[in-house]
Amino acid sequence: MGWKSKLSLLLLVGLICFLIIPAGNTIGNGKRIVRIAHSQSEKHPEHIGLLAFKKHVEEKLGDKFEVQIFPNELLGGQKKAIELTQTGAIDFIVVGCPNVETIASVYEVFSMPYLFASQKAYFDTMRDEEYMKKIYTSTDEAGFRVMTWYNAGIRSFYAKEKIEKPEDMQGMKLRVQQSPASIAMVNAFGAAATPMAFGEVYTAIQQGVIDGAENNELAITNNKHGEVAKYYSYTNHQMIPDVLMANLRFLQSLSPEEQEVFAEAARLSTDVELEAWDKEVENAKKIAQEEMGVTFVNVDMTPFRAQVLELHKEMLAKNPNIRDIYEHIQTINARDTGAKE
Ligand code: GCU
Repeated sequence: MGWKSKLSLLLLVGLICFLIIPAGNTIGNGKRIVRIAHSQSEKHPEHIGLLAFKKHVEEKLGDKFEVQIFPNELLGGQKKAIELTQTGAIDFIVVGCPNVETIASVYEVFSMPYLFASQKAYFDTMRDEEYMKKIYTSTDEAGFRVMTWYNAGIRSFYAKEKIEKPEDMQGMKLRVQQSPASIAMVNAFGAAATPMAFGEVYTAIQQGVIDGAENNELAITNNKHGEVAKYYSYTNHQMIPDVLMANLRFLQSLSPEEQEVFAEAARLSTDVELEAWDKEVENAKKIAQEEMGVTFVNVDMTPFRAQVLELHKEMLAKNPNIRDIYEHIQTINARDTGAKE
């Protein structure tokens, strides 16, 4: 059986399981099925982190819960899967922060280009659990609680043609995530922003609907975008975390002890994901260069940064909810300047 048929079969089996056992229901052995959906492949660090989550929950509470992980947008693209999480059909979902912007506008801050001065400042911000708690509970009103974050790397542009300076992006159609802030960013670079779900990007580049996209290096290999876009230019314009978001009603249905087990599992999944990340990126670069013929281009970031920095002021003026976290990040940026990563 070819990999395509295997994949179709897997998708079918996954969907049948999903449809037969509605969330909240128990299976024959009396266990509550806990469904987690994400967009990445089984090789991705997030999947590896989630396996640790599953293991921890089942080790501690295996008599009551069975955790099922649905990768590869199996239960729908992130927008669709968020809706299913709100209804309770899915219990946990991993999403990029741009997809959370319409639920709690404070998440817009992460779409700001060149927000973090360094990867250290990004990690220091996300590891400040005390501060992040305020952000994580901001989705409560809509019925979601963010449990933890995952590193989703540093985003850069990749396209069929080489991008070396902002002018090269003029007139290019580039895919962005489905959020107003991301659209504004790509337009500010001088390109035509084309929002679409992650899972549609490969075909859109292949068919010439778009000229390229922007993402971390794993999109090139794990999602095979390197087959259709051969130039990856290190513009390093965003570091946007992914978050693990729970259906709040599910969390509140747990006892305090059970809640603690799920919280521990979430923290553990982040540690595992972060550890897997650097190795996976290095691996992806090697495969992209050696097996896919992708060229990685080091660009001078100064003109790219200059082109979009005005957006910070515009976004702050439009959305007061991001001011506090923006200031908080600026403090961390200033503190970390010159610090070794
Ligand atoms: C990354 C990120 C995802 C996001 C995707 C995208 O892969 O981890 O959460 O959905 O980029 O560009 O849509």
